[in-house]
Amino acid sequence: MTKYRIALIPGDGIGPEVIAEGKKVIDIVSEIEDFQVDWVEYPFSADHYLETGELLTEDSLKEMEKMDAIYLGALGDPRVKPGILEKGILLALRFYFDQFVNLRPVRLLKGVECPLKDKKPEDIDFSVVRENTEDFYVGVGGHAGKGKSKDVLEIERNLYNVRFNLDIEVDRDEIAYQLGVLSKKGTERVIRYAFELAKKKNKNRVTSVDKANVLTDIYGFWREIFNEVAGEYPEIETEFNFVDAITMWFIRKPEWYQIIVTPNMFGDIITDLGAMIQGGLGLAPGGNINPSGVSMFEPIHGSAPKYKGKNTANPIATIWAGAMMLEELGEKRAADLVIEAIEGVLREGKVRTRDLGGTSKTSEVGDEIVGKLKGK
Ligand code: NAD
Ligand code: IPM
Ligand code: MN
Repeated sequence: MTKYRIALIPGDGIGPEVIAEGKKVIDIVSEIEDFQVDWVEYPFSADHYLETGELLTEDSLKEMEKMDAIYLGALGDPRVKPGILEKGILLALRFYFDQFVNLRPVRLLKGVECPLKDKKPEDIDFSVVRENTEDFYVGVGGHAGKGKSKDVLEIERNLYNVRFNLDIEVDRDEIAYQLGVLSKKGTERVIRYAFELAKKKNKNRVTSVDKANVLTDIYGFWREIFNEVAGEYPEIETEFNFVDAITMWFIRKPEWYQIIVTPNMFGDIITDLGAMIQGGLGLAPGGNINPSGVSMFEPIHGSAPKYKGKNTANPIATIWAGAMMLEELGEKRAADLVIEAIEGVLREGKVRTRDLGGTSKTSEVGDEIVGKLKGK
């Protein structure tokens, strides 16, 4: 029997509640499809940080390197300054494992009411390939006061190390700055992933999203590389959209899109909008993928602290992310069964959380999906 070892990081807020349902579903589908999942749970979260001062540990990262995947709930807590947990745990994992693709399907499942008038499941069905290690997420920046100062900004990545030695001279008030970086290799590999995904899914258009009309250096570079890679795929149509315009087109003509590829920050922003046109954040999954390493799957939503401990959050995004994980592990049939069960439950409409107009609990949605899988 095939065995998988999967790291489980429930995290903060609603994370533990939704991840429990995802785990429940995977445990059942693994019985049905005859494979075994051994879970290794890690405590990394706000609670753990507040108790111990620890974010991630080197030892746990080394352990996870030997695992088949990571399944994560969400991170972020109002008791901790914004960025500490998000950067110290979530982004640190994405970077450490060089998960350079953030794959976010935007798909209106059958049985979900679309907030856009007259749009059907066949109209909202595309994938966003978000670059996941670079851009304004490299985490280098600083502050400088009036007068002369120096700063050294360093980026350490699997692909490269960069150091910026800055001589700063400010003639008036304090300033803050943040640098965005794209590398040729880092850009090329994610764009190539998008074209390969188009081929695999029989799609014939790849849309690049950027802001090359203003941030000309960084996104002009992105465009050059996009064109180079596109040249290798003459059968696939290409286009450039500016990020502001695509937010309008997502609402106006979502059926146009097939595969979208975009730098990190714009990918973050447009996929929350993508989530809304597929029915809400409670229904939007994502995978942080390193095609030759350890990938990590999670809902795209956050820890929604207001709903923590209430058992009311929608677990479907997380369960669907679990299905993406199964597919990436090579268990395509199990992944399809999970999606079918999700759609079955949504179509019946009896068991729904509050975000979808129902009154069911988080755990009842998980139980109902499990019931569907068992053929009840
Ligand atoms: P959020 O995604 O946590 O929540 C925004 C709103 O979306 C919620 O108030 C709720 O109305 C709705 N929502 C989200 N998930 C839902 C679900 N499963 N079911 C029903 N409704 C749901 O975004 P936020 O409020 O901006 O951020 C809260 C915290 O989460 C912050 O600390 C942020 O940094 C962090 N965050 C983490 C991740 C992640 O771990 N991947 C992603 C986004 C935000
Ligand atoms: C997401 C989140 C994260 C991101 C934050 C919490 C670091 O918003 O997964 O979409 O910006 O990538
Ligand atoms: Mn986000």
